[in-house]
Amino acid sequence: MTTGLPAAGGFALGAATAAYQIEGATTEDGRGASIWDTFTARPGAVRDGSDGSTACDSYHRSEEDLDLVRGLGVEFYRFSIAWPRVLPEGRGRVEGRGLDYYDRLVDAMLERGLAPSATLFHWDLPQALEDEGGWLVRSTPEAFAEYADVVGERLGDRVGLWATHNEPWCAAYLGYAAGVHAPGRREGAAGHRAAHHLNLAHGLAVERLRTHTSGDVGVVLNLAPIRPERDEARELAAGIDAIRNAVWLDPLVDGEYGEALLRVAPELADPELVRDGDLAKVRGSVDWIGVNYYTPVRPDVPGPDGVPHPEGGAYPGVAPFDLVVREPVTDIGWEIDATGLTEVLTDTHRGTGVPLVVTENGAAMADDRVEDGVVVDEDRIDYLRDHTAAVVQARREGADVRGYFVWTLLDNFEWAEGYTKTFGLVHVDPDDQTRTPKASYRWLAAEAAGLREAA
Ligand code: NOJ
Repeated sequence: MTTGLPAAGGFALGAATAAYQIEGATTEDGRGASIWDTFTARPGAVRDGSDGSTACDSYHRSEEDLDLVRGLGVEFYRFSIAWPRVLPEGRGRVEGRGLDYYDRLVDAMLERGLAPSATLFHWDLPQALEDEGGWLVRSTPEAFAEYADVVGERLGDRVGLWATHNEPWCAAYLGYAAGVHAPGRREGAAGHRAAHHLNLAHGLAVERLRTHTSGDVGVVLNLAPIRPERDEARELAAGIDAIRNAVWLDPLVDGEYGEALLRVAPELADPELVRDGDLAKVRGSVDWIGVNYYTPVRPDVPGPDGVPHPEGGAYPGVAPFDLVVREPVTDIGWEIDATGLTEVLTDTHRGTGVPLVVTENGAAMADDRVEDGVVVDEDRIDYLRDHTAAVVQARREGADVRGYFVWTLLDNFEWAEGYTKTFGLVHVDPDDQTRTPKASYRWLAAEAAGLREAA
């Protein structure tokens, strides 16, 4: 028996993490290197020069961490599996100790009455595959299918809610176009190539997973509402929307890349890259879509002396643009606007008709108010209160949203920001790894029943 997507009308809560951000133990039990191990070693790649080699040491503290999830009173724990723990070279030899770790982790969730939601790819591509071209070559999707097969065979009987990728936009465009995430390649249109191979990998992996599980299989996307600042920015906004949203949704819904996308990404019309049958595998492939939402995107035309926004590098094919950020913002500089969450959920519902889960939402806050050793993060509580209300609103407007998972359980390794930005419901002492729940943790634990009721 597995617990999958809640039935129509149902609604569940959860807490989310990702392997590289919390596990540490990057050289233990035969784990191979990932592109994040390599990237973080590059001077200047990570704001505080840190890496995930220790992170929250969750590899050794998973029981304690799962107790914390249970204490929240939520139904789901969303975690990711580190590909290089299971297949250290990306394909071929399976590392039994890596697979055993996730096997035990899943059992430990079930023992606590938590439903596991597993993500196969949360950015930690095996370095051995990057050495062969990474997401720019077709052999990587083929290796991903092999990985999905191995994991599905082992965990398919107990994991009911599966996602292939997490935010493939980041892996493709921040990784291969803007170069601010691993593997740190700044090759513009290579981002589109990576995006197609991620789509193909998704399609191939879903086929394999379904041979092992009756659970619900989906993909997690960081879809964003794109809000042009003025009329002159409409064309820019259409290009940004295509690369951020349509490159994933077009294949899922229509089995092809649409016109708006091909205008900015003509590479995706190349039959050598996009081969017959590739996108047919993606069309209709999911039982659910995970939506990660943090902030709206407000493109603008650059002013006369304006310097285009550096994030433009992540949208190859789109003319240089500016990004407007309105107050208030979180500690990572992202505008706080809960209406964007309602918008993205209702739009995605209309566009796809597929059940949705908010697989990530949360806030980096300074966490500088501490009383009796506890972080009193009222700003995070406000953020969560407003955004859960925005989900309820989306449901009222007809969006089929079946759940809301908070990002994130623990303060952890925030990619290029290192440990400088904290999103956790639980504070983690960097020196001795002591976990201390924040006020927001207590808030969620107290409100969980009410939130389910309100939904
Ligand atoms: C998206 C990613 O999936 C997660 O890994 C990251 O920490 C959060 N958003 C916050 O940036």
